[in-house]
Amino acid sequence: MTALIEVKNLVKHFVADRSVFGRPTAFIKAVDDVSFSVEAGETLALVGESGCGKSTVSRLVLRLIEPDAGHISFEGRDLLALNASGLRAFRRDAQIIFQDPYASLNPRMTISQILTEPLALHDLVPRPRRRERVEELLRLVGLEPRFARRYPHEFSGGQRQRIAIARALAVEPKLIICDEPVSALDVSIRSQILNLLRDLQERLGLAYIFVSHDLAVVKHIADRVAVMNLGVIVETADAQALFASPRHPYSRALLSAIPVPKPRAKRSRIVLQGEMPSALNPPAGCRFHTRCPYVIDRCRVEPPQLLEDGTGYATACHRTAELPPPDAIVPTDGSFSPTLERLVAAFSGPGEVSASSGVDTAGTVPPAVA
Ligand SMILES: Nc1ncnc2c1ncn2[C@@H]1O[C@H](COP(=O)(O)OP(=O)(O)O)[C@@H](O)[C@H]1O
Ligand code: SF4
Ligand SMILES: [Mg+2]
Repeated sequence: MTALIEVKNLVKHFVADRSVFGRPTAFIKAVDDVSFSVEAGETLALVGESGCGKSTVSRLVLRLIEPDAGHISFEGRDLLALNASGLRAFRRDAQIIFQDPYASLNPRMTISQILTEPLALHDLVPRPRRRERVEELLRLVGLEPRFARRYPHEFSGGQRQRIAIARALAVEPKLIICDEPVSALDVSIRSQILNLLRDLQERLGLAYIFVSHDLAVVKHIADRVAVMNLGVIVETADAQALFASPRHPYSRALLSAIPVPKPRAKRSRIVLQGEMPSALNPPAGCRFHTRCPYVIDRCRVEPPQLLEDGTGYATACHRTAELPPPDAIVPTDGSFSPTLERLVAAFSGPGEVSASSGVDTAGTVPPAVA
């Protein structure tokens, strides 16, 4: 079966510095040899710390920016070879929802105008039927049709994200890239939006690439997960399998950051110590080697390949076969290795320690997910 979208060996480096003659002298290796595919109707989650390249992948996949190398095919067609009309048709098939519903809706347009724009652009619905279609779209995302006359500032964050989803649905896409779609929303309404996305997927047969730094959110929605670190995918697996038993040391550390509800525990951020690698100058060999508790000499020189093991996992680690099972690595009794503890803190990031992505320092560190 042909995948809906297939990405092979995608590379995007941004110029970080130039010589006095304008020649590039330093690059940010935002995406460095990334491959994955998404089937019709499924959700692939792209997860990893802030700055690992998730949004760059999203923009590449939609051809909002051009890659330096690699291939992207959509329903078997070479996306990078499309002419203007082919690209226009693709823009109907693939849509994106951004993190910030405040910035993504034009404040000077009514909801009706916002939703009519894509209908008119792609000439989807005859003019007399557009009002009816706008009302249908609003109902589809759980909003009242009378809201069509209002402006974005009259809505809450959750309602605005529903409007952004309605705008994406207006062109009847096959694929929606959701780039941190609930990260800017109150924790209390995140699950409503996630449930809406899941419900729409079932009803409309949509595929999602769901980008998030928050594993608790991903657990709610993903069929498959690709874990990214510093511009490369380190592991892909079926979501249930990955959450039950992550193999790559980085996946194990990320998954240990999923919080366990503990009402009386005091929450404060662990201060990150040690070196934080940057995409400007990523470590040689395995890009995780400066933070990996299992590093050996080989890891410092030889980049591991993402290899499938025949059980649905693909893992990029020289030591996959010899590592102990995850439970032995992330103990539940509070005795936690300092390296992993720093990683968990790093993953939560400044200002991101919240009820859904927090680090609990009052006693135990959250255990691996059962
Ligand atoms: N237009 C750009 N110019 C230069 N650097 C960029 C640009 N876009 C992203 N980057 C850099 O590329 C890296 C990956 O960024 P991004 O894809 O936004 O990560 P994520 O979405 O995972 O947080 C970061 O180091 C970021 O600073
Ligand atoms: S290749 Fe080496 S450094 Fe990289 S994750 Fe595996 S053990 Fe750790
Ligand atoms: Mg991003």
